[in-house]
Amino acid sequence: MDRFIVDPVEFAAQAERWIGDRINLVLESSRRCHLMLAGGSTPLPIYQRLAMRKDIPWSRIDLYFGDERCVPVNTSENNYTTVMRSLFPDGDRPDGMNVYRMCGEENPDKAAEVYELVLPERIDILLLGVGDDGHTASIFPGSAAVDEEKRRVMPAIAAKPPLQRLTITPLVIQSARYLLVMVQGEGKADAVRRALVDRSVPAAIALDGDWMMDTQAARALPEDQRLGF
Ligand code: 6PG
Repeated sequence: MDRFIVDPVEFAAQAERWIGDRINLVLESSRRCHLMLAGGSTPLPIYQRLAMRKDIPWSRIDLYFGDERCVPVNTSENNYTTVMRSLFPDGDRPDGMNVYRMCGEENPDKAAEVYELVLPERIDILLLGVGDDGHTASIFPGSAAVDEEKRRVMPAIAAKPPLQRLTITPLVIQSARYLLVMVQGEGKADAVRRALVDRSVPAAIALDGDWMMDTQAARALPEDQRLGF
């Protein structure tokens, strides 16, 4: 559960390095790597950097998504679409790589049930972001997903549009082999403090993971919690 606080300019490179190194670490002892990606905008430059690395054996990676907005696939609000455009800008998927998309355009309850069936028992590398209200994936403050103890995927209602979502639950977050929470920008500083210090928002579910923050997102943390590289 490391806390990395990095210069905003270095954020994407440091996060890409963390992810790439753990993919290669997992593949040292496993035939395949189950990598679950975060949506939103923060990770997109990180995915673009990952796309340029030559040492990632994408053919041995199974891609999953931590949440999805229930909007048509080829729209800019769809996490699958924005993530895949960042990772594979030319649209070509590497042979051998499996991609498991959350079908947000289907009936949410059915789509959640179906997605749960394709999830591996354990995600090797789970990437998460944090919203300015302290949500992570699409587990929003006050939602039933916060306390879900049976399902690993469920429908969710967001606090901001698109309102209908699908999300992983705490069960997936807490069982991940490696977990990285990526938070950038001053607008997230309060959410970071509420997650890591007060433990009062859903992002606290990821407390035991590694957190990669830029100095702006970490600015509201108490001095003793700021362990830089
Ligand atoms: C989503 C994400 C969500 C995201 C946070 C932060 O579907 O929006 O999965 O959990 O990580 O909302 O979003 P930004 O990175 O865009 O600030």
